[in-house]
Amino acid sequence: MARAYSIAVVPGDGTGPEVVAEGIKVLKAVSSVEGIKIDFTTYDFGGERYLRTGEVLPDTAINEMKKHHAIYLGAIGHPDVKPGILEKGILLKMRFELDQYVNLRPVKLYPNVETPLKDKGPDQIDYVVIRENSGGVYTGAGGITMKGTPNEVAVQEMIYTRFQVERCLRYAFEYTRKRNRKKTLALVGKTNVLTYVFDLWERAFHEIGEKDFPDIKREYFHVDATCMWMVKNPEWFDVLVTENMFGDIITDLGAITQGGMGIAAGGNINPVGVSMFEPIGGSAPKYTGMNIINPLAAIASAQMMLETLGEDAAAARIEKGIIKALQKDIKSLAAGKMGLSTTQVGDKVTQYATA
Ligand code: IPM
Ligand code: MN
Repeated sequence: MARAYSIAVVPGDGTGPEVVAEGIKVLKAVSSVEGIKIDFTTYDFGGERYLRTGEVLPDTAINEMKKHHAIYLGAIGHPDVKPGILEKGILLKMRFELDQYVNLRPVKLYPNVETPLKDKGPDQIDYVVIRENSGGVYTGAGGITMKGTPNEVAVQEMIYTRFQVERCLRYAFEYTRKRNRKKTLALVGKTNVLTYVFDLWERAFHEIGEKDFPDIKREYFHVDATCMWMVKNPEWFDVLVTENMFGDIITDLGAITQGGMGIAAGGNINPVGVSMFEPIGGSAPKYTGMNIINPLAAIASAQMMLETLGEDAAAARIEKGIIKALQKDIKSLAAGKMGLSTTQVGDKVTQYATA
């Protein structure tokens, strides 16, 4: 019997629907070649629905999502909706409620892609950031008192439990082992200032590493220094693991070194549940509906989705398609400068991925 998957699709806002359509085009093509069956169910969560109905995410949504093997998301964020409402109410809510506690963000420069880093190429820029995705300041603990007075106080707390830290670190060690490159995992933190939270991270890192992953070399970098090395010596890195907000910040830097938001893909992973895959860029409202946005990040997210589902051959096809389209057809990764339209990029990748 053919392997069959059910995928929840949340195209979302702005250019989300356009890039997701190309990802689905590629997914359908490679799955048919590889003998996989995929059913797609589309959900209209996003800014338009919110403006129309006042509803951010229906109460039934999370349970609905749990019925699928994975979620494929376009982009969340609408120019007519105050920042935070949709991001917290849809994207972060799904990450939290589905306990997608790892955010996997590879930083990989493909051949023929321009990087702003001088004298660096695909051999130097190829590492993975594992961003903790369930804790830190993203838990939203805190508040404001005496708002609007000169004595106003705002608190936003960075919260981590041993349980959260440990499960993320174990995932990172295992990932590093499976990746099987330099077998080096670097913890990225700020032990010199965050003397509570990173004391916990650092102790857990060494305890778990020493006991259960003696084959993996351990390194530590401060997050500020990491930004410097990501520009100057990205070839040092194999796998980096870090807390939620540090991971958010450094992966935008990583993305630009691999060619920008047009290609950067991410996965919100629950290793024992339902994971969600998304391009890490935003909804790019100004390019909406013009058929000029780059769909490669969404297509690469679809690749990651297949890898996570264990469909390595189909995933490898997508990567092959992306690499070949970059080599032969795509002039630039920037929206409107690709030399091809959004749909044409999807067509090219499909053609090469199924060849
Ligand atoms: C990301 C985004 C989100 C985050 C926003 C939209 C809430 O920046 O996925 O990196 O901060 O995690
Ligand atoms: Mn971000």
